[in-house]
Amino acid sequence: SRTQVAIVGAGPAGLLLAHLLRRSGIESVVLENRSRSYAEARIRAGILEQGSVDVLRAAGLGDRLNREGMRHGGIYLQHGERRTHLDFEAGCGRSVWVYGQTEVVKDLIAAADADGQRIDWEISGDALHDVDTDAPYVTYRDSDGASCRVDAAVIAGTDGFHGISRPAIPEARRSVLEKEYPYAWLGILAETAPATDDLIYSRNKRGFALYSMRSREVSRLYLQVPAGEKVDAWSDDRIWDELARRFAYDGWSLNTGPVIDKSVLPMRSFVSAPMRHGNLVLAGDSAHIVPPTGAKGLNLAISDVVLLARALHAKFTANDDRLIDSYPSDAAARLWRATHFSYWMTTMMHVSDDAFTNELQASQLRYVMGSEIAQASLAENYTGMPY
Ligand code: FAD
Ligand code: DHB
Repeated sequence: SRTQVAIVGAGPAGLLLAHLLRRSGIESVVLENRSRSYAEARIRAGILEQGSVDVLRAAGLGDRLNREGMRHGGIYLQHGERRTHLDFEAGCGRSVWVYGQTEVVKDLIAAADADGQRIDWEISGDALHDVDTDAPYVTYRDSDGASCRVDAAVIAGTDGFHGISRPAIPEARRSVLEKEYPYAWLGILAETAPATDDLIYSRNKRGFALYSMRSREVSRLYLQVPAGEKVDAWSDDRIWDELARRFAYDGWSLNTGPVIDKSVLPMRSFVSAPMRHGNLVLAGDSAHIVPPTGAKGLNLAISDVVLLARALHAKFTANDDRLIDSYPSDAAARLWRATHFSYWMTTMMHVSDDAFTNELQASQLRYVMGSEIAQASLAENYTGMPY
């Protein structure tokens, strides 16, 4: 079959791209190797920047977000047993929203269904062909094992870090810059009311901990663990005990409850450039990864896609290639700001094996907790730089 844009990967980037293109009359086919139920259940990010919320609302995706999303006007920073509230509205006049990536994905799939968007789930063996020509195409087997081919004017690679799109750009044409961190996060989802109004980012001698949430009944918590940690090493009791120590604060205690999801998340910074090769364009995790501390991964996927949808609109409706030509540099400018902020938050909040580094990071955290000027800068970055 033939379409205007073949979209590889039905994560938030691919699904939002299909949605925005549909709204400007551009046809696409989405190809996804997992099942729909898997995509709708996968637990990932939880924080939307103000700008991401504005994008989703303007795209007609705001109904459930407005009802169930929780607006947060700040965060707590904790250092040892000291805890300070940072007020984002005072700092920069913006806020963030707690609304899980899982919910964003469900809303996007529901909108795709309502509009008759073609999404081929559970495909396998996909490969991209002739991406540097005017006639690129994708081959794959559908969920019944039948051989399929989609021809398109443009292929959008939104298939995440482990996808096939980034490797479809010849190595000689790509540069990769990356940084590994010597720690990972153990994340849990628990059926218990959050014991805090805003998220708590805590730096403790024992390691970093983050108190987040998904709703008034569901908490999401994270612990710094060594890179490569096995999830089996952490019983529920051990997790709650460790969380209680890392969030210890006079007169306050956390709420415990049944753990309904538990996993270890690796941490890296990774940037592959450029995000375009001929008629193949990349967006989201297929091109870049940030460590989760700055809550930027999902927001970057959304901002890439906004830039890309705008560029494809100009290309297909006005035959104007200027925005698609500048897409790699436009996206990279935003990406590098988020990459720096995520690195900065990560190193400031995590405990290192190196004593000199630890003193610097602890000093930086004390400075931020005591300076409204530093807090305004954190707020500006955390709530998201304007588009
Ligand atoms: P993805 O969500 O990865 O979507 C890619 C899609 O492509 C997937 O559906 C995948 O199944 C599909 N796919 C892969 N290969 C192929 C193929 N060959 N053919 C077809 N389809 C394919 N960010 C935060 O800010 N905070 C967090 O707490 C946080 N937690 C995370 C936890 C985990 C386990 C992971 C992996 C990421 C987390 N992130 C977090 C990052 C955030 O979730 C991502 O930045 C975001 O999902 C990026 O969206 P995406 O659509 O680009 O990629
Ligand atoms: C969540 C994840 C993050 O990485 C973060 O910085 C804040 C919240 C979350 O999953 O809720």
